[in-house]
Amino acid sequence: MTEFVMENCKVNPKGNLEFAGADTTELAGQYGTPLMLLDENKIREHAALYRDAMKKYFTPDSYPLYASKALSYKGIYRIMQQEGVGSDAVSCGEIYTAKAAGFDVGKMVFHGNNKTEEDLRYAVRVGIGRIVVDGPEELEELGKICTGLGVKQKIQIRITPGIDPHTHKAISTGRVDSKFGNAIATGQAEKITRAALKTEGVELMGFHCHVGSQIFETEPFINASAIMMSFIADMKKKTGFEAKELNLGGGFGVRYVKEHPYFDYEKAIEELSVKIKEQSASLNVKMPDIMLEPGRSMVAAAGITLYTVGSVKEIPEMKNYVSIDGGMTDNPRYALYQSQYEAVIANKAGQKADYVCSIAGRCCESGDLIAENIKLQKAKKGDILAVFVTGAYNYSMASNYNRLPRPAIVTVRDGHSEVAVRRESYEDLIKNDV
Ligand code: LLP
Repeated sequence: MTEFVMENCKVNPKGNLEFAGADTTELAGQYGTPLMLLDENKIREHAALYRDAMKKYFTPDSYPLYASKALSYKGIYRIMQQEGVGSDAVSCGEIYTAKAAGFDVGKMVFHGNNKTEEDLRYAVRVGIGRIVVDGPEELEELGKICTGLGVKQKIQIRITPGIDPHTHKAISTGRVDSKFGNAIATGQAEKITRAALKTEGVELMGFHCHVGSQIFETEPFINASAIMMSFIADMKKKTGFEAKELNLGGGFGVRYVKEHPYFDYEKAIEELSVKIKEQSASLNVKMPDIMLEPGRSMVAAAGITLYTVGSVKEIPEMKNYVSIDGGMTDNPRYALYQSQYEAVIANKAGQKADYVCSIAGRCCESGDLIAENIKLQKAKKGDILAVFVTGAYNYSMASNYNRLPRPAIVTVRDGHSEVAVRRESYEDLIKNDV
């Protein structure tokens, strides 16, 4: 029996790949390709895991905020709301999408290292839960906007704890030289905290940090939480301000390929809670409400992408290319980070996978690859290729390069499927052209 990297995938009696109880070759026929499939139960399972574990191990008012940069469309905010999960947004586009879905933006935090005045105004007007202030200019601007509007906006301050999580440098954010936040080591964190306490129109709730993404060890998170708790204690001593909230960001790793370890999210939360409680007692600060911002670990393993194979090119004694009807426009992660993926020919899923090949997209660009030198079943034109673990940072990073329309998203639940995002049409592509 073939074992796939995703537990919600198996070979059905017809020898086809089954995903979340549905035959993927039938879904490809029904909805066309490229097609992103999402296992809705899996997303709900992850949301519930975070929600329950955080209540169990932290204070009762602690909760997860889904980092919607991982995958943002109206339906995902509805799912999160139903599961009692908040959300993080990094643009007004994400906030707008959430609002349009009926999401309570009071349970949303707004990030970004260069929010514009218009962004801040919009977020305050719609009643965003927290603004995570990234720097002094933003604090000043926000103060002015809020006093002008006669409101008091709850904020957290983004702190750079000075942690190197040893992940890909493009997704490492906790180091002192990061473009994000205010470093403790340079004194900038203290300075902005003092400024926030004096700024009218804002109410400082606590602090935020995010060390990076796709991290498999709990150590960087534990270290970050210890540094943040010490900072909270230091600020209490120096200013009298005691943080009510500590937002530790996202970053828990996801198993994309069998060589990756399993990351036990609940265990990591438990270990974090032990450390934070210890620190709270020894530093004599109140246990803050904890927020976490999981993005990837909420949705990555809930998604697969289906493509149709168009050509198979064999360069003797060199390389085999299997070309598909999508590529870097719907999944730029290999082109950007050389991220690893596993894949299968869905209509031959039960057959042995010993054909070494690279999966090439259809863009006019040699770097448009999804994987290199992976083992697949022998492929031919018309086959359906399924790429695993594509739920996070695929659709949300998709582009229209080469004027290729973005794929559709279909959710699958206990074998039943439903369109969540329609496939883009050519008219959609030119709708803003004048
Ligand atoms: N919170 C903040 C402030 C973040 O910057 C991020 C991710 C998250 C939460 C969510 O982190 P996660 O749980 O998903 O690791 N495009 C890259 C990932 C960029 C992550 C950016 N920030 C990729 O495809 O790997």
